[in-house]
Amino acid sequence: MTLVSIALAALAVAAGCSTSGASVEYDAGAPSWTLSTTPAPLSPLPESIPGLDPRRVALGRELFHDKRLSGDGLVSCSDCHALGLGGANAQRKSSLPNRPPVGANVPTIFNAAFNFRYAWNGRFKTVEDQIDFALTTQSAMQNTWPGVLEVLARDRRVIDAFKSAYPAGLTTETTRDALATYARALSTPNARFDRHLRGELALSEPEQRGYEHFRDYGCVSCHQGVNVGGNMFERFGVMRDYFADRGTVEVDADLGRYSVTKNEDDRRVFRVPSLRNVALTAPYFHDGSATTLAEAITTMGRYQLGREISDQDVAEISAFLHALTGELEGKPL
Ligand code: HEC
Ligand code: HEC
Repeated sequence: MTLVSIALAALAVAAGCSTSGASVEYDAGAPSWTLSTTPAPLSPLPESIPGLDPRRVALGRELFHDKRLSGDGLVSCSDCHALGLGGANAQRKSSLPNRPPVGANVPTIFNAAFNFRYAWNGRFKTVEDQIDFALTTQSAMQNTWPGVLEVLARDRRVIDAFKSAYPAGLTTETTRDALATYARALSTPNARFDRHLRGELALSEPEQRGYEHFRDYGCVSCHQGVNVGGNMFERFGVMRDYFADRGTVEVDADLGRYSVTKNEDDRRVFRVPSLRNVALTAPYFHDGSATTLAEAITTMGRYQLGREISDQDVAEISAFLHALTGELEGKPL
């Protein structure tokens, strides 16, 4: 299959999904990557991301864990995007010293390179734009770029590290770039499912059945592509009103794409999140309302597909989703 036909197939799936929200038809009997006329909805992550300068990655890693990047010196990026917590923070809403919680549950930073937009409502086109926001918002770093540069410029070692990684040395652009390069480097290849797709192992029976349910119920019509998500926008509540049933007041973070476009059709429309490493990133959804993966799967069945998924099928889908947990820098997560 050529790249163009994959892209066209993906577009066709995306178009079908946004009009009906129903499952995509394709031949579940043959492995998806061998079919030439039907979409390849899921594909393995590349084993490494080419073109990332290791010195810039190393610099970005340091900055990511450096509390000096926050205005009051109390918070680092890793306080919300912890590498040991699936790139998220295990909380419903962030709770950090001297800060209001962020309006939305913290999404994982892992595999950000493979998302087509950033943030739950997809308002950022690039990782760099997202970082500008994190750096300046009161809920996160509470800083300004001049503020960051002032502090870093006092550290001889940091200045030298920038000099060796960038011809321009320490500037706002290079600091942002180092953070973005590190964020892009945080990919998690070699999940059991990836190895299965590459023909290296057979899934366990529950995992395999879960994979079949994932296709047959139609989860794959939205959660697809190399990131098992992250490549389209969809309404939360296609078949039933999730927000009415939730029973709590709607807040800004619930508006989804509407807050970006002010178009009524975009109300409650979100970027379909990646499901890679999803077993590690409870609680779930933009509002952090689902405490367990099983609960999230049940909710998805009910509100996105109009189906009540049996406990056994939920357990098997959960087994499949666990097989999406990959490796970070060569170590299992
Ligand atoms: C207080 C918690 C918090 C801190 C600190 C924080 N973030 Fe985030 N991050 C979030 C939240 C919440 C989102 C989603 C924002 C939204 O949907 O409005 C996010 C989104 C992201 C994303 C996009 C993920 C995706 O695929 O959508 C990236 C990349 C990111 N942050 C990087 C960083 C970097 C780099 C720093 C440090 C400069 C940082 N974050 C600091 C909470 C935080
Ligand atoms: C019509 C599109 C669509 C379908 C079909 C769909 N999802 Fe989702 N899924 C979404 C969207 C959109 C979100 C984000 C909802 C939010 O929090 O705003 C999401 C979120 C999730 C999450 C939470 C991810 C996180 O990081 O918080 C899980 C888990 C999930 N879906 C699994 C599934 C499973 C399993 C199925 C099939 C039973 C499924 N989804 C079907 C669109 C879909």
